[in-house]
Amino acid sequence: MSTPEVHLHDKTFVLYLSEEEIASAVSSIAERMNKDFAGRTPLIVVVLNGAFVFGAEIFKQLTFDCEVAFIRVSSYRGTASTGEVKEEMPLGADVRDRDVIVIEDIVDSGLTMDNLRLRMAEAGARSVSLCTLLFKPDAFQGVFELKYVGIEIPDRFVVGHGLDYDGLGRNLPAIYQLKV
Ligand code: IMP
Ligand code: MG
Repeated sequence: MSTPEVHLHDKTFVLYLSEEEIASAVSSIAERMNKDFAGRTPLIVVVLNGAFVFGAEIFKQLTFDCEVAFIRVSSYRGTASTGEVKEEMPLGADVRDRDVIVIEDIVDSGLTMDNLRLRMAEAGARSVSLCTLLFKPDAFQGVFELKYVGIEIPDRFVVGHGLDYDGLGRNLPAIYQLKV
C-alpha cells in the first residue's frame, strides 16, 4: 500500500495512480508491442532520467528480440514561446535502418517527444514509434501520433514511478499529484 500523501521539498502530493493501475497500463502496452513487433528486432530508446523505471518494466515483458539504448535530454522553456531540447547524454547506438521505439515517462507539451522523434528520423531510423506512460492531452501542442499511451491524466504536476520534483520522488512506486 502506498501512503496517501508525500512531502517533497516544499510541496505536498496526493496519491493519484496506484501501483496496480500503473502495472495494468504497463502490461497492456507490452501486449500491444508484442503483437506489433513480433518477428522484428527493434531498438528500444529509453529517455533518461524519468523513463528508466517504466522502461525497465516494459522491457521485461517484451517477447520479441530487442536491444536497448539510453538518451538523456532536458528541455528549456525561456520567455520566448519556442522551447529548446538539449541533449545531455547522446544515444550510444546506431539507429540507421532500425525500428526505434522511444520510451518516455510523460508527454506534456510534446516538445521533448517531437524533438526525439525528429532526431531518430534524421539519424536514419526506418520507423519511429512513440511510447509514454503518462499523457496530458490538455497540455499537448504536438501534431504527431503517440502510438502507445499508458494513462491520460489532467494537466497537473505529478511525481513518482520515475518522475521527479526537483530531483526527488522518483523512487515512489505509485504516482502522486500536486496538492492544490
Ligand atoms: P514536454 O516536452 O513538455 O512534453 O515535457 C516532457 C518532460 O517534462 C518530461 O520528460 C518530464 O521530464 C517533464 N515533465 C512534464 N510534466 C511533468 C510532471 O507532471 N511531472 C514531472 N515531470 C514532468
Ligand atoms: Mg523526462
